[in-house]
Order: sequence, then C-alpha cells, then structure tokens
Amino acid sequence: MSTRSETREVPLIHDPGVPPAGEDSALFRWPTVSGEATMTRNLARLGLMTAAAILCLAPAPGAGAADGNALMAVCAGCHGKDGASTDPSVPINAGMSATYLADQLSAFKNKQRPCPVTEMKAGDKKGTKTDMCAIAGALDDADTKQLAGYLAKQKFVRASQAADAALATKGQQIHQQNCEKCHSNNGSAPEDDAGILAGQWTPYLKEQLADFRSGARKADPKMKPVVDRLDAASIDALVNFYASLK
Ligand code: HEC
Ligand code: HEC
Repeated sequence: MSTRSETREVPLIHDPGVPPAGEDSALFRWPTVSGEATMTRNLARLGLMTAAAILCLAPAPGAGAADGNALMAVCAGCHGKDGASTDPSVPINAGMSATYLADQLSAFKNKQRPCPVTEMKAGDKKGTKTDMCAIAGALDDADTKQLAGYLAKQKFVRASQAADAALATKGQQIHQQNCEKCHSNNGSAPEDDAGILAGQWTPYLKEQLADFRSGARKADPKMKPVVDRLDAASIDALVNFYASLK
C-alpha cells in the first residue's frame, strides 16, 4: 500500500489494463496519507484513504457500521451526505430498498446500465472524473450488500426543485393510470423495489426514461411498453408531478 502514496493519478475509466475488481485495482490510484495501515482493504480499493482520514472515519477492519459510513464517504462526493443528493445531475439514492440498490450496483458493475462520466462534486477529489461502472466495479459482494443496506436505512430527502402546478396535475393523472400499480404511493414506496420517483431530481428521471425507451437501460418487461407509449408532453407532465412532491 505504501507505493500508492507515490501515485497521484485520477481513476482510470475503461482502461483495458485494469485488473479485475477484487484485485488490488488500479481504478482508484488516488493519493494516500500516512497511518493507512489500519485501513481496510475496501477503503484502499476505493481510494478512500484521504477522505476517510479527513472525516476521521478510519475504521479498523471488521468495524461493521462504521465501515459502511467510511465507504459512504466516497459516494458522498457525488450523492451527498447519506445519499441525499443536492446536485440535480446526481440521483438521491437514500431510502430505496436494499434489494433495488444492490441490483442497480450489480447492473453498473456488469455494465448493464449506462454509466455517464461524472465529476466528483465535493470532497478532496472534487473535479475528478469517474463513473458508476468504475465505482461499482471496485465493490465486492460484501461491500455492495453493506452499502445497499446502509443507504436503504437513510432518509430519501426530496429534492428542492421547481414544478409547474398545471403540468403536475396532468402528470398525477398519467401516473395514476400508468405507473401507480408498480410505483405506489405516488412513486414513494421503497418496498416496490422500483426506485423512488417522488421528489427525485428531474434531469435524472428524464434521462432514465429516455434510457428505458432507447433500451440503453433494460426496463422491467411490463414497464417497457408503458414507457414506450409516453410522448414528450406526458414525460414533461410526469416529471413535474414527481418534482411537485416535496
Ligand atoms: C463521481 C460521482 C459519483 C460517485 C462517487 C458515486 N456515484 Fe452513484 N451515481 C452517480 C450518477 C451520476 C448516477 C446516475 C447514473 C445515470 O445517470 O444513470 C449514479 C447512480 C447511482 C445509483 C442508482 C440510483 C437509482 O435510483 O437507480 C446507485 C444505487 C448509486 N449511484 C450508488 C452509489 C454508491 C453506493 C456509491 C459509492 C460507493 C456511488 N454511487 C458513488 C454518480 C456517482
Ligand atoms: C409493471 C410494473 C411497472 C410499471 C407499470 C412502471 N414501472 Fe417503472 N419500474 C418498475 C421496476 C420493477 C423498476 C426497477 C427495476 C428496473 O430498473 O427496471 C422501475 C424503475 C423505474 C425508474 C427508474 C428509477 C430509478 O431510481 O432509477 C423510473 C424513472 C420509472 N420506473 C418510471 C416509471 C414511470 C414514469 C411509469 C409510468 C409511466 C412506470 N415506471 C411504470 C416497474 C414498473
């Protein structure tokens, strides 16, 4: 691990030379700090040494919940504290079911979901570009389970964003007729294992609907014909409805 302190490279995305996840991956060759001997293997792989030190989270191996907190520090660089993203380009990922969250992390890891390149929004890696496929690829099954379980227990804090009232009313009808069956309570029920739509960031929802329609993100087979039927005006109405739920 001591060699890591010499490398100051940003994580490489889609580098063909990257070793498989679970190895001492080169994906996250971020600068390290001293005192890292007590860090867990997970933290090293995620390049969390600096973030964890700053946050004084550095757990001993097997530290349980604290380890989850430390792993979350890298996620927080984009998804905000405990998954309550305040950045419109990054989804809020707290409070969804652990099943749904773990499934999505696997989908990213297996590149079954698109992974737009994103800059870290905060923290000491601010401005570093990476993507969810690289991040999820560095997680093993235990990390994934732990993070999904941790995030599922956090509160989904609805985005503070504008919504057009007339469009929201129209969107509510469309939702009731087409989406409520699987996205119950206006798209706010984690137990549906279908994400959370109520209060999610509008740009993210629009992007996901476009990805489902194009096939870039695989949709539930029963949802696919429903989203394919939506026209631009219906999508606009729907996202205004979800944005209106504060
Ligand atoms: C560099 C920024 C960045 C970091 C760091 C990051 N994410 Fe993400 N994450 C994103 C973006 C952007 C998306 C949306 C991808 C898309 O547009 O499809 C996303 C999507 C997700 C989703 C899917 C949400 C949904 O509603 O389906 C989950 C789950 C997730 N991230 C978990 C994590 C976890 C856990 C970590 C830390 C190990 C993490 N992310 C770190 C940027 C980031
Ligand atoms: C037959 C059930 C079903 C119907 C009907 C349905 N969905 Fe879904 N939806 C799902 C499931 C299951 C998932 C999560 C798994 C996946 O990614 O396919 C999902 C995921 C989503 C997501 C991604 C959430 C996230 O956090 O990334 C969006 C957005 C979405 N649905 C919107 C809609 C809208 C809008 C409608 C109505 C026009 C709709 N869905 C109708 C089952 C359904």
